[in-house]
Amino acid sequence: MTFVRNAWYVAGWAESFGRALTPLTILDEPIVIFRSETGDAVALADECPHKRLPLSKGRLKGDTLECGYHGLTFDCSGQCVRVPGQSNIPQSAVVRRYPLEERRGILWIWMGDAEQADPALIFDLPAFDDPAWAAHFGDALTVESNYLNLAENLCDPAHVSFVHPTTLGNPESEDVPIESHREGRTVVTSRWIRDAPPVGFFKAFGNFQGNVDRWHYYFFHAPCTAVIDFGSAASDLAIAEEDRDRGVRLFALHFLTPVSETRTVDHWMHLRNIAQDDETMGDQMNTQFRLAFDEDKAILEAIQERERQPRRQPPVRIAIDRGANLLRLVIKDMIESEGGALDLAPRREGKAAEKVAQAGS
Ligand code: FES
Ligand SMILES: [Fe+2]
Repeated sequence: MTFVRNAWYVAGWAESFGRALTPLTILDEPIVIFRSETGDAVALADECPHKRLPLSKGRLKGDTLECGYHGLTFDCSGQCVRVPGQSNIPQSAVVRRYPLEERRGILWIWMGDAEQADPALIFDLPAFDDPAWAAHFGDALTVESNYLNLAENLCDPAHVSFVHPTTLGNPESEDVPIESHREGRTVVTSRWIRDAPPVGFFKAFGNFQGNVDRWHYYFFHAPCTAVIDFGSAASDLAIAEEDRDRGVRLFALHFLTPVSETRTVDHWMHLRNIAQDDETMGDQMNTQFRLAFDEDKAILEAIQERERQPRRQPPVRIAIDRGANLLRLVIKDMIESEGGALDLAPRREGKAAEKVAQAGS
């Protein structure tokens, strides 16, 4: 099992939930989400405790959910309030309710111990409130791969030269070293490519005449949120690391929601510091992101397919793996703190990964 339970995960964009009973699976748990008559989102286990019919196959009656088989009826807290044919309600007639929070158009669900569901832990960024920035929603991309494969990809600026040659990368970055470090539960991986032609994305949106300085900072907030701070500025400005706002700067956000051990939904969106009122530009950027993230999907699904079989030779260890190795250690720590264990060994020979990460720290 590779899941961290005590965490907020993105259930979906808030606008996609209404009065319809919406079934989804997160961390292998079936969940049904709907809005009450006052508009509050409710998440219950999607399984009737009688004969296990998914409650999403039942019907909403006001603020109660009636099972589609024998009519057991549950309120928004998951408590059974009606058993047709009898007046007493068995104590066991209750379904689990999951804590939900709605923030910035995103619906978050807490998958662990409800007592520990602290809304202050929900990811946020000051740029959401800053008029110099515009937020633009993207898609929910299903990737047939374990979420750790996606998480590694989001601690890995090196792949863009090879996977995204027309949008986010170009050959100029191939041999530029990468810095990685851990800050608590966050892994930061970064590099600058100075004085090189702009990549396709910034040719399209940056209006640059000559060479640019390009940066990538990948902040992975374990277990599920990635912020990719990337941008370009004209090389003759020679901007310092902390002056990234002087360039064309974006935050690409990825919220990973593990569905099962081999399937993940990546809700992605962006914030940008240019053309704040130009929705068309946001859409055009999303077109490029869509192309790039489909390229990631193809790679990550092919890797998952290969992981169904045992390795035939030991893995090669290289310098760019450091961010990914740190990430796996953070996740391992989180799972162990919940009393579980993340066995890295069958997937990636975790002991060796640990050594590589520690050697570089
Ligand atoms: S299965 Fe739900 S009431 Fe029987
Ligand atoms: Fe990528």
